[in-house]
Amino acid sequence: MKHLKELLAVGMGALLLASCAKPKDATEAKIDRLLSQMTLEEKIGQMNQISSTGLSDDMKGQVRAGLAGSILNEVDVDVVNELQRIAVEETRLGIPIVFARDVIHGFKTIMPIPLGQAATWNPAVVEAGARVAADEASAAGVRWTFSPMIDVSRDPRWGRIAESYGEDTYLSAVMGVATVRGYQTDNLADPTAVAACAKHFCGYGVAEGGRDYNTTWIPEIQLRDVYFPPFQAAAEAGCATFMCSFNDIDGVPSSGNSFLNVDVLRREWGYDGMLVSDWESIANMIPHGYCADLKDAACKAANAAVDMDMASYAYVSHLKELVAEGQVSERAIDEAVRNVLRLKFRLGLFDNPYAPKRDNPYYKEEALQTARQAAVESAVLLKNEGNTLPLDFNRGGSLLVTGPLADSPRDQMGTWCFDNAGGDHAVTPLQALRQVDGLRVVYEPGLTYSRDRSQAGIRRAVRAARSADAVVCFVGEEAILSGEGKCRADLSLPGAQSELIEALAATGKPLVLVVMAGRPLTIGAEAQLADAVLFQFHAGTMAGPALADLLLGAAVPSGKLPVTFPTMAGQAPIYYAHKNTGRPPMGVTHIDSIPVGAPQFSVGASSYYLDAGAAPLFPFGYGLSYTTFEYGKPRLSSDRLTEGGTLTVACDITNTGSRDAYETAQLYTRDLVASHCQPVRLLRGFEKVLVPAGETRTVTFTLTPDDLAFCHADMRTYAEPGEFHLWVSTDSQSGTPVSFEYE
Ligand code: NOJ
Repeated sequence: MKHLKELLAVGMGALLLASCAKPKDATEAKIDRLLSQMTLEEKIGQMNQISSTGLSDDMKGQVRAGLAGSILNEVDVDVVNELQRIAVEETRLGIPIVFARDVIHGFKTIMPIPLGQAATWNPAVVEAGARVAADEASAAGVRWTFSPMIDVSRDPRWGRIAESYGEDTYLSAVMGVATVRGYQTDNLADPTAVAACAKHFCGYGVAEGGRDYNTTWIPEIQLRDVYFPPFQAAAEAGCATFMCSFNDIDGVPSSGNSFLNVDVLRREWGYDGMLVSDWESIANMIPHGYCADLKDAACKAANAAVDMDMASYAYVSHLKELVAEGQVSERAIDEAVRNVLRLKFRLGLFDNPYAPKRDNPYYKEEALQTARQAAVESAVLLKNEGNTLPLDFNRGGSLLVTGPLADSPRDQMGTWCFDNAGGDHAVTPLQALRQVDGLRVVYEPGLTYSRDRSQAGIRRAVRAARSADAVVCFVGEEAILSGEGKCRADLSLPGAQSELIEALAATGKPLVLVVMAGRPLTIGAEAQLADAVLFQFHAGTMAGPALADLLLGAAVPSGKLPVTFPTMAGQAPIYYAHKNTGRPPMGVTHIDSIPVGAPQFSVGASSYYLDAGAAPLFPFGYGLSYTTFEYGKPRLSSDRLTEGGTLTVACDITNTGSRDAYETAQLYTRDLVASHCQPVRLLRGFEKVLVPAGETRTVTFTLTPDDLAFCHADMRTYAEPGEFHLWVSTDSQSGTPVSFEYE
């Protein structure tokens, strides 16, 4: 297990000292030399990122004029190399361009969306997926990707929850770091390495009402406890770049936010990577009502240490004038350019500016296997009544495959697949099931896409169900319903999918639901009607074979939810690490059972919804298996943890079923009384362990006081003495706590 503090590696103080005392290395000397030769215009050009229009005269002209520090969205390797040639051979100093692209969960071979990757609870699988993505993207000349998105996301209405690692700070940090490692390797100059980008700094996932780009209000304590740690972990892991977020925090947009970009990122964390704005987020400070015009926006962004302007043309249009007027210092420009050049040196672009041509770089067998393993591990078994799954067709029989997601290559890819949006090489569940020897598959889609409301297809599916031995219904969301700018106020299954499920359930045939979506959905009623439910966040190229393996028992589900599932959308935001409140839910009464004319306080006064209670549909960390596990009582090395000491926690997990299977044991703590109210539970570690049938395995965790720390009013983070509860459990709601004291 890795503790967050281990991920962060060194404390803030040590970092400050380290960055102040850092001797100039060879790269810094090269940067100095280059900088001393550059004109102001050349420097400003390095701070500009433009979107490619191929080999157009305009594009070539901009490169020749030195306006292209970076180009995004060019993936034709010949075009990349030609534009690079112009930069290297036809500009005065020959500074290479860094080519960037949104490679979010795969370039050609598509992994599960990040939310699904988090559901694997397996950082090794996530790292391997990022490695595949970098290997493929670099073959097109892409050496910088805008990933990982490590915005802690607690609102399933927000479309971009799909791109996140879910609601938990610790899990997001672990997965973010794994992703960075996969992209960058330990040598960024390797031609297959791609610079990562930790985004969006910061608080983007807190958009009010789950509506994208919306404003946020986040107290600094909460930033430090919940939203900063994944970013600090990424910075410590050497993540080469950061990206500003679109939102304002407490009235200040991130692209003009010196507190975030200077005080925290540069000074506290000693970050020496490059900070890029989001797409036109510098210009967006005008509609935010924070800047009067583009010149004002350029001024505020440059003074807030945003090194590169993505697509606003604010810097190239106004920085020269702003420097002349003394509104932006040359020193600020030099600092920004230094960060840009450092990235290019680290990527080895000065030595190897061109992308070498590679034969057949895409969809290699190894890449497909990595995608398949990730897809298997990302699926979460939510219900399995009477061991309906795995399906047993050993004695013959036919399976009805139905539902709008059963055979939709494009939709199983999920959001952000610019370079494989059509689902090339995708194997759908229908295709995969049809390839299974001896399995008789009947296909009747019922509905042709997730929002389809036609009744005729439902009738056909019901007729087919009547003569089948079991039904698997693939429902969910189309890819277009999640991701950037794709928020939903209603989290139910779109279209007539619920009606399809009701009608299929009424046939009395064993009914398995497979839900393929970009966010948690409110599927309580549908889950009740089904015998088994397997939830898979859009799982990419190999979703089909992975699901076929799981449905038929060639693989055992091991995914766990990285995010809480609400019963109703109105419960959002909903997350396990909530505060207890002064009036935790008690005597929950449903709205329908309140007698007419009941006196005001007859249904109590505690923290819940009359129509949705307070409990989630499925909690964070939840996920079943084809076997069962029994947890022993956690054994602590002591009932006391002292300052500077460690506490070892061991817990036995017994596989009480008949299948060898993986279980993810989760370590949670609670600080019972503190000077700032603390969450009812916080994830402090996890371990995914293979437990053979009938056997017991022991998981071991080590806790230090740093693991119990939280931010105080003076913005210092430390643990407070007192009593703590600790759980080692299968999800965030189960288990019996044991106590220990920190003194
Ligand atoms: C806007 C998105 O917010 C960001 O995540 C993405 O990387 C950029 N556009 C570039 O496409």
